[in-house]
Amino acid sequence: MRIIVTGGSGRLGQSVVRGLGELGHEVLSIDRIEVDGLPARQLTIDLLDHSATTALMAAERPDAVVHLAAIAVPFSAPEATILATNSALTFNVLDAASAAGAGRVLAASSPTVIGYGSPTTWEPRYLPLDEAHPVRPWNAYALSKLGIENTAAMFARQRGESTVFGSFRPCFVISPEEWDGAITQQGHTVVERLNDPALAAVSLFNYLDARDAAAFVACWLENAHLADNGEVFFVGAADALATRPVAELLPDYLPGCDACGLTGTLPAFSSAHAERVLGWRPTRSWRTELSPSQAALLHSPGTAAPTAAPDVGAPHSSTAASAASVSTEVRAS
Ligand SMILES: NC(=O)c1ccc[n+]([C@@H]2O[C@H](COP(=O)([O-])OP(=O)(O)OC[C@H]3O[C@@H](n4cnc5c(N)ncnc54)[C@H](O)[C@@H]3O)[C@@H](O)[C@H]2O)c1
Repeated sequence: MRIIVTGGSGRLGQSVVRGLGELGHEVLSIDRIEVDGLPARQLTIDLLDHSATTALMAAERPDAVVHLAAIAVPFSAPEATILATNSALTFNVLDAASAAGAGRVLAASSPTVIGYGSPTTWEPRYLPLDEAHPVRPWNAYALSKLGIENTAAMFARQRGESTVFGSFRPCFVISPEEWDGAITQQGHTVVERLNDPALAAVSLFNYLDARDAAAFVACWLENAHLADNGEVFFVGAADALATRPVAELLPDYLPGCDACGLTGTLPAFSSAHAERVLGWRPTRSWRTELSPSQAALLHSPGTAAPTAAPDVGAPHSSTAASAASVSTEVRAS
């Protein structure tokens, strides 16, 4: 497939560009900035420019478009800027993509649409959270992401004959270098997040390896005909980013929250719908991906930490055995 990825220079975008390229797709990355070493053709453009975006899509005539470009961090710009930017970017890209004849258009939403982290009371109606759970965005970023889902659904109703639209809610994305200690989007390392549960509690301990996100994108592009046009999917790891069960940790941060169903390593977000409809499932866990030097920095993983990776498929790096053995050593001490 000839695929355009917007935001291809970004944290998630680079893994998506790589992953699609490795599967043999012809990938074009469109972003405001270029990055070195991306194995794809790159074009720089401001996607806020509707005419330029329309002209570019018409010239490139992609089979599919993956829209990731956004202001990607809540409160990283004035609220009005985040809402206006993310809304306009999505409208421009989805409009231009389908006008240019793209058969598949997928946009990145966010789990924040659910409403966790709200300064007013927020409680999950049930756990694990799935796509049927009510949404309650409480900041401009989350609101813009709900708008992105609605924009995809609107275009599905308007142009669903010729284009399949969809959106996905990737959990906290961890790129390959972040397993080796690079600073994450939130300004700390993965190990710091594991050692201090308060850091991950704000997003209910969710996470996703960027390469698993890329695999989801590839899977959706291949199987979008199996989904409803405009459908939304949660996309997260099969375990929580925590060394202790979420059922134990969550009540400390959401008093009164009954998370007792989340036994063992189960995450608060379910990707079961993506597996049921599209056949996608995550294959990477922090337990298999953390580099040995980072795993050595883990504090006690706690009494309930598993001795092996959860059922997420074969480990994808040679760090698995060392990470598991470090865990065991720390627990024993
Ligand atoms: N990283 C996460 O944990 C996470 C979680 C949930 C959802 N998402 C969503 O996934 C997408 C990608 O996230 P990311 O972490 O890679 O973000 P990122 O900030 O690393 O990348 C976003 C890219 O979009 C580009 N961009 C922004 N405005 C643009 C414009 N006007 N024209 C052209 N390009 C523009 C930026 O230059 C950047 O390269 C975003 O939509 C984000 O909201 C990310």
